[in-house]
Amino acid sequence: MIAFTLNGRAFEIACAEETPLVDVLRGAAALTGTKQVCGAGVCGACSVLVDGEAVVSCLMPVANVAGRAVVTVEGVGAKALHPVQKAFMAEDALQCGFCTPGFIVAATAFHDQWRAAHGTAEPSNEQIGAALSGHLCRCSAYAAIFRAVAAACSGRYDGSDVAAARVDAREKVTGAAIYTVDVQQEGQLEGLVLRSTQAHALVRSLDIAPALRVAGVKAAVSLLGADRTVRYVGQDVAAVAAVDRASALAGLAAIVVTYEAKLAVTTMTGAQDARAPLVYSGWRKSPPNAAEGPLLPMTWKGNRRGPSNAFSLNRSGAKSTLAAAATARDPLLVSSTYHCAGQSHSCFEPHAAVARFEGDRVVVHASSQAAQYLAGRIKSETGASDVRVHSEYVGGGFGSKVGMGAETRAALALAKAAGRPVRVALDRAEELSVTGHRPETSLKVQLLADNGGALKALSIETTSNAGVAVNSTVSALARLMYKADAKDLVDWDVVTNMPPGSPFRAPGGPTLCFALEQAIDEAALRLKQDPIAVRAGWDDDPNRARLYTWAQSLEVWKRRGDAGRETGRYRRGVGVAAGNWLYFSQAGSEVSLRVEKGRLIAATGAQDMGQGARTVLADAVARAFDLPREAVAVEIGRSDLPPGPMAAGSRSTATIVPAAMAAADKLKARLRATVRGGVGDNAPWSETIANAPDMAISAERPADRTAIQADLKNPLKEVGMIGSVFDWMLRRFAHVTTGRGLAGAVQIAEVEVDTWLGKTRVTRFWSGLTIGKPQVPKLALSQAEGSIIQGIGYALYEAREHDVRSGHMLSAGLEDYRIPGIADTPEMVVHFDELGFEHVAGGGIGIGEIATVPVAAAVANAMHNALGVRFHESPIRPDRVIAALARKGSA
Ligand code: FES
Repeated sequence: MIAFTLNGRAFEIACAEETPLVDVLRGAAALTGTKQVCGAGVCGACSVLVDGEAVVSCLMPVANVAGRAVVTVEGVGAKALHPVQKAFMAEDALQCGFCTPGFIVAATAFHDQWRAAHGTAEPSNEQIGAALSGHLCRCSAYAAIFRAVAAACSGRYDGSDVAAARVDAREKVTGAAIYTVDVQQEGQLEGLVLRSTQAHALVRSLDIAPALRVAGVKAAVSLLGADRTVRYVGQDVAAVAAVDRASALAGLAAIVVTYEAKLAVTTMTGAQDARAPLVYSGWRKSPPNAAEGPLLPMTWKGNRRGPSNAFSLNRSGAKSTLAAAATARDPLLVSSTYHCAGQSHSCFEPHAAVARFEGDRVVVHASSQAAQYLAGRIKSETGASDVRVHSEYVGGGFGSKVGMGAETRAALALAKAAGRPVRVALDRAEELSVTGHRPETSLKVQLLADNGGALKALSIETTSNAGVAVNSTVSALARLMYKADAKDLVDWDVVTNMPPGSPFRAPGGPTLCFALEQAIDEAALRLKQDPIAVRAGWDDDPNRARLYTWAQSLEVWKRRGDAGRETGRYRRGVGVAAGNWLYFSQAGSEVSLRVEKGRLIAATGAQDMGQGARTVLADAVARAFDLPREAVAVEIGRSDLPPGPMAAGSRSTATIVPAAMAAADKLKARLRATVRGGVGDNAPWSETIANAPDMAISAERPADRTAIQADLKNPLKEVGMIGSVFDWMLRRFAHVTTGRGLAGAVQIAEVEVDTWLGKTRVTRFWSGLTIGKPQVPKLALSQAEGSIIQGIGYALYEAREHDVRSGHMLSAGLEDYRIPGIADTPEMVVHFDELGFEHVAGGGIGIGEIATVPVAAAVANAMHNALGVRFHESPIRPDRVIAALARKGSA
């Protein structure tokens, strides 16, 4: 029996001494505000106070707290919100909120010690960073965390009032927000998945019966497909559900699998060898789709699928022009090959599902970006007529939680077999291995300018390795950026015996930019022109034209020196990159508004995975009725709500706001017609609503096809995408409509490179964005800043690594898979150019993807400016910097 004080009350538990404290807190104590992410003491999400000191509870045996005082996030603000909690709410120092309890706990300890020693003096970013260096945030809300902690320490949030930037901020800073991994139901079992140990094998036999004889195991199911073939290490084979995790693990260990190993290939290079073993043999292949778009039929040769080149323009002209330039050794021909490593989404809430069957009804809690889409998939796969999916709080997704994951399939099968609710939540190793990733990609770029400085021809041939999945689209995106007489844009897939890739924030965008924007930088050097001027000359987007002017006006750009001029150990450089992204919305989405007991309630089946959909909806409705945002209640994240957009493709804001405005107009008319007596036509809406009988109304997002088709200058029209079969397919299979105009970004990075150690630090970053009018400026800023930091991770740190012989992931923990930390945060300036989307109701579109598209390229160009060395491989690790400098020195 171990006894301690928990949030001020006596608590005791009978359990093994070595039981991690986090398990006791989240289990027996039912304090789910404490989150578990890495399980290795790396991320700080499970932090609690023990005798006033912040510790990670995943590494703390419960016996170590015997007789001591433990405070969790629930205890921090139990009586009244702590100034740090209020500061996090007001400064918007959170997005999905999954890491937030850990930050709150550690920041309150720092705050209290700081105030005791320094009064209301404001700590520096270095001091805050040092205190919070053991904490990670995948949404990268670091800049606002700095602001919040500094403001709290200075006493600015000592008062009792706080205006939260987002409507769900209080739940997130107090640990009250319930995510899928926190769901606990009567009789709930713990489900675990048995995964393939083989990179490629036929499963000769699978005996799950021994698992059922293990004490505590209540169900065991096969998850094998019809072909009984596993094609990567980690593929789901079977699953068990038991009364606790230890019993479930014992059940997994009892399952007997006999594999007939097949030859496997785990590298992109190896898979293209003529003698390489085939990942898919036979005529009929059914690989997973790594993209959001439809999976079109394509030819295969060995492990190569493609080419996909439909977005080319005068392809033969591009080929012949570039070939002639190569033969003539034209100095303006830029020709290079680039390689980008695979990037893991690494959402902090793992993929998780809790399923239960209630007669004919199936109820699933899922960490999903698309609850309604998931409900449809569950219906078609289980045959159930009544399916309810809940995804009220989602701890990050970044594209990896759109479809129906293996965790949901396993939870459903186990719940059905056990007749009890079952939770399947992946651990960090599973999360970093099998839940999707941005594919590894090689890009060959050829680019030719003429002597007048115009872009004559562009060729990009991309080969992507999304493991067993296909349909990566990278080169095709270059059709939408920079005008040229001829473009040869080719995408290939290469399949390997590795886990499937999946869409990741602007799929293909950062990868394309890393290569294309460096090639353009090189072209500018050869033309002896300003790189921004070159881009402005080649780019006919009127919105980005304003951004180029803004970027050229920045002091940091005007003072930029020549590439490679710096000497000494630390060298600074400045680089630019530009990018664009499509404006998507989800046709057919609805927002319903209802008045219930004098309160206004807005509802739609959207998800908030940290991007702020809940707040955007409340804000749009509140604005329409001239009400404070708190006067609007919001319901999202459930499949039984009116049809809403999935949280993918930056479409939430662009879908929700117009539908909310349309619904508000309808409701206003109804209210005016209905409310009589004592409420005049000019009465404030708050008064009208308070006096109204209960009523409801809903409106669809107005379709903007007419506007799209009227825009003859839209380059998409040239390739027959809009209003064509392709547009129909986007709607039918990807559930999106493309709108008129492209989101744009022009970004400038300043870096400092330590030439002795090879380390690169992004010191300052300017991000100019054209997304129209930001709907909720503070949240848009947070998205923009977080996107920069994720892009820095792609440029400098993040790489999926595996054992090439066995196919086992090596970067399967946050100690091995390096994501940016708080100390990697540069000074950031975000410039919103608010024009260009006046044709959109609300005046603005989504930001999540465009804000990260050019970041890695801007960093790479800044490094070239600092060192005079071009980096062709991402991430630009210290060893690559040292090697490149050595090559330069010996050249
Ligand atoms: Fe930090 Fe999402 S807010 S992980």
